[in-house]
Amino acid sequence: MVSVAILGAAGGIGQPLSLLLKMNPHVTRLSLYDLVNVPGVAADVSHINTNSSVESHLDKQNLGAALAGIDIVIIPAGVPRKPGMTRDDLFNINAGIVRTLAEAIADHCPAAIIGVISNPVNSTVPIAAEVLKARGVYNPKRLFGITSLDVVRASRFVRDIKPSVDAAALRIPVVGGHSGATIVPLLSQAEPRVEFSQKEIEELTHRIQFGGDEVVQAKAGAGSATLSMAYAAARFTESLIRAISGEDVVEPAFVSLDADPRGAENIRALGAGSLEFFAVPVQLGREGVKRIAPVPSITPFERKAIEVASGELQKNISKGVSFTQKAK
Ligand code: NAD
Ligand code: LMR
Repeated sequence: MVSVAILGAAGGIGQPLSLLLKMNPHVTRLSLYDLVNVPGVAADVSHINTNSSVESHLDKQNLGAALAGIDIVIIPAGVPRKPGMTRDDLFNINAGIVRTLAEAIADHCPAAIIGVISNPVNSTVPIAAEVLKARGVYNPKRLFGITSLDVVRASRFVRDIKPSVDAAALRIPVVGGHSGATIVPLLSQAEPRVEFSQKEIEELTHRIQFGGDEVVQAKAGAGSATLSMAYAAARFTESLIRAISGEDVVEPAFVSLDADPRGAENIRALGAGSLEFFAVPVQLGREGVKRIAPVPSITPFERKAIEVASGELQKNISKGVSFTQKAK
């Protein structure tokens, strides 16, 4: 019995994510919310013959009803990039959207597990955290920035140059954040192990860091990744659901390192320093973050990349925090 709300359900990500979660037999209630077009999306998805109920909630006056009693909230609401833009260029619009939605979550389902997709994730997750802190309901174990697409891309891009690899089975931890140089794939930690030349490592790292741009360019003004993101978010949600029912599952995510201070020690020593948020492999449990999984060892190339990522991340995190403080 798991109830899931999607905020921004009528968008490019929201629609295929609604479809994928309607097909998930563990979801019993699917609550779809958007400012536009959501009645059509909900009516359409509700005809799929799985047992879950589907609800349509249009417009802000129905946000409370969309959230009441919800276990997991996934947030793809917000504007996507166009060619030439960075994710940070979305801040001015999406920061306010995420703040409003986090306020409503604090009021209507404060114990829910939250997965933020809206960019720039490096700033929107700190914004959500600050809102929840201000309302006295913050639990760092229950707030996630969804970075699964970076991990999905990493395994697929490796397969492009190593055709003997099974892309679906390959696990490559990706740490740091979710934009350009803050995305740090740890190719040395691939499971099963894969041998790369230094040139392959450099090219793959760059491609994983800027994979989002490939889609933005190809869509030529019509948005960014939607289908692969819906897949990645559905996988993340499925992992949360499996963890809620007692299974041990490891998923990467951008989380507060306060969610597991002991587990975070290892990540801080790798270069995260005093950063509050970092993308890490997370062992999920009933409460959300059960443990930050250790990253055993990294190469000098990866350490350098983490150093670069950390400088950029600090600015992104501070920007989110000061946005919520200015609004007080
Ligand atoms: P989209 O424009 O197709 O859809 C966004 C939806 O959000 C629209 O239906 C819109 O009506 C809705 N919306 C806007 N303001 C809202 C509000 N206040 N409340 C509820 N709904 C609201 O965009 P998209 O392609 O679905 O992308 C959505 C976001 O996801 C973007 O910010 C994009 O950058 C981000 N994204 C993140 C990742 C990731 O890896 N984390 C991957 C892809 C895209
Ligand atoms: C992605 O990685 O595809 C998303 O963050 C969307 C984007 O703007 O690239």
